[in-house]
Amino acid sequence: MNQLVRDIPTVDFGKIRADFPVLNQKVNGEPLVYLDNAASSQMPAQVADRIDRYHRHEHANVHRGIHTLSQKATDEFEATRRKVRDFINAESENEIVYTTGTTDSINLVANSYGLTNFKKGDEIILSEMEHHANIVPWQMIAKRTGAVIRVIPITDAGDLDMEAYKSLLGPKTKMVAIVHISNALGTINPVKEITDLAHEHGAKVLIDGAQSVPHQVVDVQKIGCDFFTFSAHKMCGPTGFGILYGKASLLEEMPPYRGGGDMIDKVSFEETTYNVPPFRFEAGTPPIAAGIGLGSAIDYLNEIGMKQIAQREAELVNYAVKRLKDIDGLKMVGDSADRASVCSFLLDGIHATDAGTILDKRGIAVRTGHHCAQPIMQRYGIPGTARASIAFYNNTEDIDRLVDGIHYVKSFFE
Ligand code: ALA
Repeated sequence: MNQLVRDIPTVDFGKIRADFPVLNQKVNGEPLVYLDNAASSQMPAQVADRIDRYHRHEHANVHRGIHTLSQKATDEFEATRRKVRDFINAESENEIVYTTGTTDSINLVANSYGLTNFKKGDEIILSEMEHHANIVPWQMIAKRTGAVIRVIPITDAGDLDMEAYKSLLGPKTKMVAIVHISNALGTINPVKEITDLAHEHGAKVLIDGAQSVPHQVVDVQKIGCDFFTFSAHKMCGPTGFGILYGKASLLEEMPPYRGGGDMIDKVSFEETTYNVPPFRFEAGTPPIAAGIGLGSAIDYLNEIGMKQIAQREAELVNYAVKRLKDIDGLKMVGDSADRASVCSFLLDGIHATDAGTILDKRGIAVRTGHHCAQPIMQRYGIPGTARASIAFYNNTEDIDRLVDGIHYVKSFFE
């Protein structure tokens, strides 16, 4: 079942669309239909205004200045840490590390936790549906430590083969790093079950939440994972900012990943000691405006309600899947019963890139290609797909325009 949430206060999503000025424009002479939210979501005016206000009236460096402007910038920047803590229900704000995004967060864990703890023959379990960001950092660390990557296969429908996962787990398993919602297929993975099973074998768990945090309520304590990562720009915030959640006990024992200002306690040429987490992992001047922007995006999403967003998107995704499946010659790639936001598809005899190019001429933005997930494309024996990814500010007219556009693409090649 989709994450359909009933009996919650209704929201007028028609009005909410007006918060996104970018949607109110023509592209190639046609009203824009933006269905590339998995790549990057749009930013509401409230968040853009908040970032603009910071740049125009509030800018100063953080954590360094005794002067009022610097202290105010620090307060605003640090307020985001508490907002993130509450948004994903972390136990403490000290468990919230600022990074530049999901990719940076995973690299941090691989380089800090992985390099310190993995040894020759240890096993890192990934799945066939991982984004390159949750494959390549582990491969790089495996090469340096002698650890081995094991891969959970997926079913034709795009679900993890949980029996195969159970059989991969063992005493050598040191890390299980799994995507929460697949950016290529939309599959929602059973991350609590995955985490519980890994913990039974003493392994740590990292969940790549880049595609889940924008679309559903996430509770890291309920999942029980050790690390959780996501990006601001996929949740109505700015690019260049993201989060690593890590359990306090783990972050405390992890060495820094990058050196520089702010991450130190004392520096001399003889010896340097390091700051406590999360600051130990935040070297140099951070993207302050982006951090404040993420705080504003969380305020915005909270005002609508993540349950309402999940319900709205489940309705739109169900509608989209039904309409897409009615199109002759269209094949869904990944068709899990548990899915969110993403609809990947192929058209008989038509290259996905051609389909995407023609859709764009009609003002319809979808992503085409391998979606930075080449192994899953190899699994299906295809070079890529066309992918429509839905956000709460989309509507059924957007889906209808997509379906009309696909019919036009087909007629173009007849
Ligand atoms: N990971 C992003 C996507 O799926 C960029 O498009």
